[in-house]
Amino acid sequence: MSPLTRRELLAASAATIGGAALAGPSLASGLDVQAGANGLHAVAQKRGLRYGSCFAMVPPQFEGPSVTNPKFTALLERDCGVLVCENEMKWQAVRPDAARFDFSRPDPMAAYAKKIGAKLRGHTLLWHKVERFPGWLVNHDFGPRPAEAAEKMLSTHIKTIVDRYAGQIYSWDVVNETVDEDTGAQRESSLSRAYGSADTMCDRAFHLAREYAPGVQLVYNDYMSWEGDENHRTGVLKLLEGFKKRGVPCDALGLQSHIWVSGEETVAQQVRRQEKGWRTFLDEAVAMGYKLEITEMDVNDKRVPADIAARDAKIADYVKAYLDVTLSYSQITDVLSWGMTDRYFWLNGFDPRTDGGQHRGLPYDADFKPKPLYHAIERALAAAPIRG
Ligand code: G3I
Repeated sequence: MSPLTRRELLAASAATIGGAALAGPSLASGLDVQAGANGLHAVAQKRGLRYGSCFAMVPPQFEGPSVTNPKFTALLERDCGVLVCENEMKWQAVRPDAARFDFSRPDPMAAYAKKIGAKLRGHTLLWHKVERFPGWLVNHDFGPRPAEAAEKMLSTHIKTIVDRYAGQIYSWDVVNETVDEDTGAQRESSLSRAYGSADTMCDRAFHLAREYAPGVQLVYNDYMSWEGDENHRTGVLKLLEGFKKRGVPCDALGLQSHIWVSGEETVAQQVRRQEKGWRTFLDEAVAMGYKLEITEMDVNDKRVPADIAARDAKIADYVKAYLDVTLSYSQITDVLSWGMTDRYFWLNGFDPRTDGGQHRGLPYDADFKPKPLYHAIERALAAAPIRG
């Protein structure tokens, strides 16, 4: 069979959108679908960027943002060139206890990403927030030689998981959210206390990741945002500075980008108030030599009145402004949303609107229809400076 032309490839790919995606004939690439070829990722690619989303693994009898849900995977296949497991690679998911690993949820997700030709980010090797530890780790007894036992636990964890997805995951969130947003200091935990300090432990996590996953981008990922959490941003810069001084192999800062739009101010007013501090923060991070990535973008619209058309317009304008500012930093090559549709938006459970309505901070609405936010992301990606 002669290779397909680009036009044939796109046409074949378009024919797979809408649910039957995995059943169609293979493309020249050997894939059933070329993920993202018809949506936001295609727009991003023209500027040297990638666009993607998190996804999940939910048993087929339950509805969710899952590889088992064809209505959801149709969105991934349309728009996403890169995917990341929302929860399934976290300690809580893969470590039922200190001795065992369980990859029954992330394995089919990695296989799915491969099947549709999407790249895979890894999230996360060490979410250093006790609330997010598996229960057994919270008060774990590390025995008479705690530093040795903690090192064994962490190195086994990192080696096992990075080896399993070696060659597929190109970027790992090595440490997630170790900086306390109120104090700017690093959190402590059973694991960090066993190591002696959070500094020692987090440094070590990056060294282990580099050793076991050479060539992979290593990221410190956090939710300091442009909405003015000064102590958090200062704490993250201090952490990044410490990494540089100590020769810790951290390549990039993950800007989670869980942003929230003001109820009182106009978008222009809010952006004017926030932009300078955000640029100062990003300037300092890139001056230290870090790359940046947008790893978990969504919008909390809790403070905005319910009216849907006005709310959608405000969210779209806010995200466009955020991306225009943030994507002006050419150090960013990845833009990931934390979900594609409001139907499965994590904020509806974690921080519900007080009027009982749904949040509208993801690109598609609860009926899988693109919203003004989708088009705002599209316009911002299309307008981003071209990456070298
Ligand atoms: O799947 C179980 C279900 O079986 C059970 O009945 C139900 C009852 O609690 O829980 C379900 O699991 C929940 C899971 O989300 C799937 O919905 C967990 O309790 C809940 O803790 C988990 O929340 C996730 C949260 O991280 C904590 O791990 C959110 O989905 C996920 O979106 C969120 O993602 C984080 C990033 O990893 C880091 N940055 C912030 C971001 C948003 O909080």
